[in-house]
Amino acid sequence: MPALSASAPGKIILFGEHSVVYQQPAIAVPVMQVKAKAIATPAIGKPSNSVQVIAPDIEINSTLKTLPLDHAISMAIDITLKELGISNHPAFNLRISSTIPLAAGLGSGAAVSVAIIRVVANFLGHNLSDKVVSDLAFEVEKIHHGTPSGIDNSVVTYAQPVYFIKDQLLETFPIQKPFTIVIGDTGIKSSTAVSVGDVREAWQADPAKYEKYFEACGKIAKQAREHIENGEIEKLGPLMNDNHEWLQEMNVSSQELDDLVQAARDAGAWGAKLSGGGRGGNMIALVDPDASESVADALIKAGAVQTIITKVGE
Ligand code: PMV
Repeated sequence: MPALSASAPGKIILFGEHSVVYQQPAIAVPVMQVKAKAIATPAIGKPSNSVQVIAPDIEINSTLKTLPLDHAISMAIDITLKELGISNHPAFNLRISSTIPLAAGLGSGAAVSVAIIRVVANFLGHNLSDKVVSDLAFEVEKIHHGTPSGIDNSVVTYAQPVYFIKDQLLETFPIQKPFTIVIGDTGIKSSTAVSVGDVREAWQADPAKYEKYFEACGKIAKQAREHIENGEIEKLGPLMNDNHEWLQEMNVSSQELDDLVQAARDAGAWGAKLSGGGRGGNMIALVDPDASESVADALIKAGAVQTIITKVGE
């Protein structure tokens, strides 16, 4: 059995995070500059069914049996074996690595799950469809995110821009004209489960107010899709700014995110907003390609620990 590898990209949410949990549309795109990778190699001489998990980034080098059952890595492996109906398999080593910043709204958890699910299936002689891979990764996401919408596992599995409405058939859509996004990392780790839980509590306390926020964000995502399909890129800027304001109202921004968003706008970005769960993690800015370096520099000056310049639709 040869060594096999699989990978999955990072992602950003362009429009509609949080409101997407409440059936509003959202748009997410892959970020190909960063990725999670899983490599499976035969563990010659080891008893069947044993799996050695090696994930240096998170200091894991242990057998699958000794990992907690609810660990995302164990879950991704177990759920794949279950899906394939495999109870007896040759021993293998699973090496996992990722260049996607952790807990930063760039989809690292979903990408790691997708890479593991694909490589384990391939190693055992099976090829799972994207739909099945995405569904299995969603099951893993549920354990760690509580009530995820499913947008992360979808965009990361298909590695294409998606227009996503929870519990509906996934739509990918054409990008008429590529556009440039600068991603700025606050360096602050933030739990999506916590911010999603807080929004849920706030919504339960005042449903009318929060449903107004969610609908406004859904409308923005719908308009944004039209602009993207028509190649009207600059029109996305004000929509990003509006979306950021609604997210501030939902109390999922933070001073650091707001500072980076302002710094990007001051440096000439057409629009900027937080991206993902919020409270920390990353923000994104839509820029003229010629301004991407200067906006990235401005973000570093304003406190970003890392920036990524990515072209959507190329
Ligand atoms: O995983 P993150 O931080 O990119 O956030 C996902 C987006 C949310 O809308 C906040 C949650 C969800 O499940 O859609």
